[in-house]
Amino acid sequence: MRGKRRALPALVIAMWMASQAFSPMAERAVAGGAPQQCFVLDDCSGVSALPSADDCEADDCACAQQIECYVRGQEPAILWPVLPGGSLEINRNFFHNRFVETRISPDALEDWVAFRDAPGRPASFAHGTIVYKQGFFPSDEDVGAPAVPAQSDYLMVKIAGYCPDGSSVGNSCLGGDWFALELNNADIGILEAGLVAESAKSTRCFACHAAAESADWLWQLHSFRRFP
Ligand code: HEC
Repeated sequence: MRGKRRALPALVIAMWMASQAFSPMAERAVAGGAPQQCFVLDDCSGVSALPSADDCEADDCACAQQIECYVRGQEPAILWPVLPGGSLEINRNFFHNRFVETRISPDALEDWVAFRDAPGRPASFAHGTIVYKQGFFPSDEDVGAPAVPAQSDYLMVKIAGYCPDGSSVGNSCLGGDWFALELNNADIGILEAGLVAESAKSTRCFACHAAAESADWLWQLHSFRRFP
């Protein structure tokens, strides 16, 4: 996550805080007919832990903001290990950016390698595991090479007991315990820096990630296990 962050005018923040304080949750999702936008926080002081499942079920945006703050403080783009096979290169898959680089919270790297090397074994990461992926644009001169970092960040965070909105089917949950969010991280074209896509609703992510259930909903792990 970049250091430079969109500074929202104080008035907008004040209006947003007032709307959060005074409108019931159900109304907040639809402000003037359009979904309310969710931006990352400028000030992360006071955030020292990931949110709980209850926090995330109560408010997707507040959950995403807390996650983003927590992860930002860890400087993942510098300090976290790149996943085996997740280094910056052209992305041949049908979704996400043309170039991606994928990292994992350090404690979970060993599990990733163990699950990768045991394809028959259902994968299940520890709660608190975070997968962090950055998207990149190519340069104008060479469309085949990544050049402009941080078009988007994608985060998947495993939170004990969480189930994405509307994803529970009987006793099982599409998307396991993962909260997923996409962050627009640069003022490029239509993207606004700091905007959490789709107001932080992670359900749409699992339309695709559902196919990777046996790899704990993680596509890259699923691909390695199926096509080593
Ligand atoms: C159209 C299908 C599709 C959708 C929708 C989708 N993904 Fe993915 N995702 C993939 C594929 C394929 C990969 C593996 C290739 C890659 O890393 O880009 C992947 C990989 C990832 C990874 C790296 C870890 C892993 O699973 O391998 C993260 C993190 C991620 N996606 C987050 C998200 C988030 C957050 C959303 C929703 C905002 C989302 N994805 C929506 C298809 C999808």
